Amino acid sequence: MGISHSSVFLASAGVFLVAALGIAWHKHCTSPPEWIKELEVLGRPRKEKLDGTAVVCGGRRVFGAVFNLIAGTVAARVLADHFDRVILVDPELDDMERPRTRIMQYNAAHGFLTLFVDGVRRLCPDFDKELSAAGGRIASADYNLHYSGIPIPSPYGDFPGGRLPGTLAMRRSEAQKTLYRLLIQHSTAAENISVCPGTVRGVESSEDNTSILSVIVRKPDGTQLAINDISLVVGTSQAGVKWLGNAGYTLPANLRCFYKPNIRYVTICFSVSPEIESKLPIPQFAFNRLAEYVYIQHFTYGSFLAALTKTDNNTMQLMLTSSEDNLPRTMSEVIPFISTIRGHEPLAPWFVETVEKLCEHCPDASFDILKIPDQSYVKYHSVPEGSLPRNFVAVGDSNLQLNPVHGQGFAKIMLNAITLNSLLHSLDSAGPTLPPDFSARYFKTNSARTEGLWNATRMHDYGASTCEPMGGETRDTGRLVRWFRLKILSAATQYEDVASVLWHVHNLIAADKALFAPRILGKVLWTPSRF
Ligand SMILES: *[C@@H]1O[C@H](CO)[C@@H](O)[C@H](O)[C@H]1NC(C)=O
Ligand SMILES: *[C@@H]1O[C@H](CO)[C@@H](O)[C@H](O)[C@H]1NC(C)=O
Ligand SMILES: *[C@@H]1O[C@H](CO)[C@@H](O)[C@H](O)[C@H]1NC(C)=O
Ligand SMILES: *[C@@H]1O[C@H](CO)[C@@H](O)[C@H](O)[C@H]1NC(C)=O
Repeated sequence: MGISHSSVFLASAGVFLVAALGIAWHKHCTSPPEWIKELEVLGRPRKEKLDGTAVVCGGRRVFGAVFNLIAGTVAARVLADHFDRVILVDPELDDMERPRTRIMQYNAAHGFLTLFVDGVRRLCPDFDKELSAAGGRIASADYNLHYSGIPIPSPYGDFPGGRLPGTLAMRRSEAQKTLYRLLIQHSTAAENISVCPGTVRGVESSEDNTSILSVIVRKPDGTQLAINDISLVVGTSQAGVKWLGNAGYTLPANLRCFYKPNIRYVTICFSVSPEIESKLPIPQFAFNRLAEYVYIQHFTYGSFLAALTKTDNNTMQLMLTSSEDNLPRTMSEVIPFISTIRGHEPLAPWFVETVEKLCEHCPDASFDILKIPDQSYVKYHSVPEGSLPRNFVAVGDSNLQLNPVHGQGFAKIMLNAITLNSLLHSLDSAGPTLPPDFSARYFKTNSARTEGLWNATRMHDYGASTCEPMGGETRDTGRLVRWFRLKILSAATQYEDVASVLWHVHNLIAADKALFAPRILGKVLWTPSRF
């Protein structure tokens, strides 16, 4: 009797323990990420501003970094909430007023995730109004994603009225101009931002090497300018590593790691009149979404991706990628190129017909072909404490460059801005200098938030036979991650809650760990892979 009593007790205690652990595990995985809570203070000016000048430093475009000016624009706007003197230095500012040179990726297609739009709305309350005046579109954040031809649903059921949050559908060239106008030129919150077209050539450190005291700028006319009384330097260029090295800071030799995706992509931009648009065989369900259609090839078939998006001012962009130099350069080459694509399921016939019609009726489309640069990560967070100036941080591609095909570049900029803003808000007194661990705290928090993106996109890219991995890794690295991802995609085609978590993680609204909540993980592991 006694024995059976105690085993009943033990069994129920065990069940209780497992249940409690399960609940704690579930809670841990599903709690919203800190940066979502921190959105609340984005765009909120501090009462007493910090001393000195904050400089956003754009430099020479090295290693094909692409988002510098947008990163700079967002960072400068955030800094205006904390400093009365903000200076934005960037070579592209010269082109904003009078477009002359063709900027790399200027016309290329880009995805905007909801986190970016959520952030911009806080930095600029008139965003939606000004955006539509500029011909831009807010569409529901649904990519109509087809993985190897199989549709991955978006979580309409999670939102009232079945309305997914909206995000920006706009060409990068127009988005850049509009964001600059909204965040810098037309914003009263930005009245203390001065813009300085030019290139940062270097920085000068204090005698004891703990901070940067001045920034040297080369102006478009060749003259040099020194900006003094520096409180904070925000780098948007990968040249940052060089500025610090030349100023006497000893940085580890392997600070920047990189791999080569060896992918090219073409962006074909069509001008589509409403009359032609009405003739396109796009099904009703695909309208008013961020993308009408996205096809991602399974890596064993190749590294092809196709995306069709309706953008601003009656334009539509078709983006196609290839690991070879065989992308279409003229209208007649488009259909033959996409006919070669293989996967578990073919491209949707309506998509192919739509492309055919666009090629037929919009003859003056533009073709921009680019090779995706090396993807890199400058591991500032790994620099030993005290080896970086206390008042240096890096945002955007200057810190972490992600394969643009995955569409997270803009959201990552906003994540950096949220992190910087919260850290600045956590400083309570406006002393003469920032605390000694300011830079280290920024890089540590930031890497914890963004390293998962670097890992996930890199591991995905290693699946393609043409990818050249990072030093010390092989294409076998991340096998398990790729296997798990295929399981998640498979489960997402069957279970609404898995599809929902995947969508939230992809939009950076949920942390990666949400995929490991017991109910989700169970379904993911249980579902046989379709791929
Ligand atoms: C887009 O449309 C808006 C509003 O109609 C207009 O102001 C803007 O100049 C157009 N932009 C381009 C690049 O055509
Ligand atoms: C701009 O700076 C002045 C002091 O130079 C300050 O009084 C004013 O509040 C600042 N404006 C904003 C929007 O921060
Ligand atoms: C600062 O850095 C310079 C150049 O590397 C070095 O010569 C100098 O000794 C350093 N000063 C201090 C106080 O560490
Ligand atoms: C990213 O991958 C590295 C190994 O390549 C690992 O050490 C690190 O913990 C991973 N970080 C995250 C956030 O997954």
